[in-house]
Amino acid sequence: MSNQMWGGRFAAGPDAAMEEINPSIDFDCKLAKQDIAGSKAHVAMLAETGIVSREDAAAIAAGLDRIGADIEAGTFTFSRALEDIHMNIEAHLASLIGPAAGRLHTARSRNDQVALDMRLWIREAIDRLDLALRGLQVAFIEKALAHADAVMPGFTHLQSAQPVTLGHHLLAYVEMLGRDRGRFADARHRLNECPLGAAALAGTSFAIDRDMTARALGFDRPTANSLDSVSDRDFVLEALAAAAICASHMSRFAEEIVLWVTPQFGFARLSDKFTTGSSIMPQKRNPDAAELVRAKTGRIIGALAGLLVVMKGLPLAYSKDMQEDKEAAFDALESLALCIAAMTGMVRDLDPDLKRMKEAAAAGYATATDLADWLVRTLQMPFREAHHVTGRLVAAAAEKAVDLDELGLAEMQNIEPRITGSVREVLGVDKSVRSRRSYGGTAPANVRVQARRWQRRLRSEKP
Ligand code: ARG
Repeated sequence: MSNQMWGGRFAAGPDAAMEEINPSIDFDCKLAKQDIAGSKAHVAMLAETGIVSREDAAAIAAGLDRIGADIEAGTFTFSRALEDIHMNIEAHLASLIGPAAGRLHTARSRNDQVALDMRLWIREAIDRLDLALRGLQVAFIEKALAHADAVMPGFTHLQSAQPVTLGHHLLAYVEMLGRDRGRFADARHRLNECPLGAAALAGTSFAIDRDMTARALGFDRPTANSLDSVSDRDFVLEALAAAAICASHMSRFAEEIVLWVTPQFGFARLSDKFTTGSSIMPQKRNPDAAELVRAKTGRIIGALAGLLVVMKGLPLAYSKDMQEDKEAAFDALESLALCIAAMTGMVRDLDPDLKRMKEAAAAGYATATDLADWLVRTLQMPFREAHHVTGRLVAAAAEKAVDLDELGLAEMQNIEPRITGSVREVLGVDKSVRSRRSYGGTAPANVRVQARRWQRRLRSEKP
């Protein structure tokens, strides 16, 4: 059967493979709501400018509402023969209201239509993600405040480095998520121009009012170049780039959860809500949700890489290649939303073993830097020399298999005679973290100040 939308020139129907490769309705049916909103704004403008009569416009708008309700209710049948969401809706409109439906597509093309629908969908996704990320920040901040004093090992190279507070560690993610939200906000800001009216590629000879449609759809202004409007998908790429970075941030905490809940680390426990058992090993409690957040980062990064490859080298203006922007973008942003939800739940659920964390923080001579700093401060020793002296003190302690604060004063003085008993004041892990009060440092007092600053900041955000 020849196509009812462009059948004029087409006598024969498509090949079977063409019928398989060409349609996008299986996935762009997700754009139904956006497509209807765009069409309603367009037809209202056509009526306002006298391009279409008020009666036809009213019939079109009513028909579109009816289709929207049917799709919402799940009673609309999508047809692959009609290729995509735009033609499915338009064809159905014709069956509802007759020939007047044919006026909707005046001064418009599927090229500006799909660019508009995608912008609207991505914009809504960004708004939902921002809200969810804010919720994740709140979960981290609350946990951080609850554990502002709790000492844990800080790592470099995954080797115990210096003691830090658990609150400080958690607030590191609040900073990352804050920048992630900033990236989404930047993307949204640049995205918020309306391509409707660019038509196929060159604009239109009808005296349309693009400011009117832009305003009606919540855009800051219409896009300024018709070729650019229908041929770029950088707004999808930017959202995916922000999503990829955000997912990789979450994958790092996911990985830390996986490590922390092992019996070997024993730093924390997740409840039954976010773990699974093994069908064969009864003792096991596997952190599946954390592993899946870690893994889903792969497909989100893949969506960004995939669309970059689709877009590179495409000549202006529209090519069907751009139909391939959708599935992976939908999947990536929906996967990210799921990851954020799971992560928020896990952060709330995570039950740290504070005793175990503190013991681990004290092991491995983690206060060696504090000892070196004491030598610098109290004996005015150059840091490099203090580093060397501390190394010898650590070696002496290691030889006796004791901690630094268990080394006798006489033994210390054997290595550096000017050391006094007051050195003990810096050797405990609690003292170590409390002393790190430099701006941005791990001290419990800093954690409280930063957590409250974030709470104020989040509270002052306009909803
Ligand atoms: N389904 C198409 C897409 O997603 C809509 C635009 C089609 N335009 C065209 N000239 N064939 O890109």
